Amino acid sequence: MPTKLSVNINKIATLRNSRGGDNPSVLQAAIDCQLFGADGITVHPRPDERHIRYSDVREIKPIITTEFNIEGNPLEDKFVALVLETLPAQVTLVPDDPGQLTSNHGWDTIKKKDYLRDIIAVFKKAGIRVSIFVDPVEAMVAGAADTGTDRVELYTEAYAKNFHSDKQAAIADYIKAAKVAAEKGLGLNAGHDLDLHNLKYFAQNIPGLLEVSIGHALISDALYYGLENAVQMYKGKLG
Ligand code: PXP
Repeated sequence: MPTKLSVNINKIATLRNSRGGDNPSVLQAAIDCQLFGADGITVHPRPDERHIRYSDVREIKPIITTEFNIEGNPLEDKFVALVLETLPAQVTLVPDDPGQLTSNHGWDTIKKKDYLRDIIAVFKKAGIRVSIFVDPVEAMVAGAADTGTDRVELYTEAYAKNFHSDKQAAIADYIKAAKVAAEKGLGLNAGHDLDLHNLKYFAQNIPGLLEVSIGHALISDALYYGLENAVQMYKGKLG
């Protein structure tokens, strides 16, 4: 099975919010990304709603024909309530601070084991698949297996950063982390800073990679290639 592409549409909301109004429409972008071949739509509402708004999430849910993935920090009660209300296919739990520019680290699955186990149980009881964001560290992936999560999402910023200087070295920790995930029976997702240059090598070398979620680079590429071409080009990198 080729790795699924979930398109993160937060950047569409950033552009929209810069002018007020509804141009470009995030709802239309979600509809179109699916038409153009995306296997899923990802949104990451932040507590201050500086890009995707909570109302966007509610509006988008009914038009989803693929898989809806909502990312966020469950420390925010209103995030938990939104996920339980909208019932996406997957929730990805991320330990980001409220004002953080973008996610910049994974969970400490050992220190936060009890907390994660409790909150993951809440989502799983509602029938939502759970993924947790982790650094490519074997102990963190092994720790994730004790939290009851279905999947882990490997944080790929370090891979992307080092890809051009030494791709084999850049991916080494991810291969080890993926092996632990497979041994522990965890599904594997990945995301952050994946782009048209580094995606194919990652997908080809990480066995069992189920899904990537990509926002910044894909939406930036859409400025040059158009959204339909950009989605297709990323899909093409996944086999
Ligand atoms: N995964 C997580 C947990 C994220 O926070 C983000 C960025 O919102 C992404 C994936 C997508 O990263 P990028 O926008 O760099 O493709």
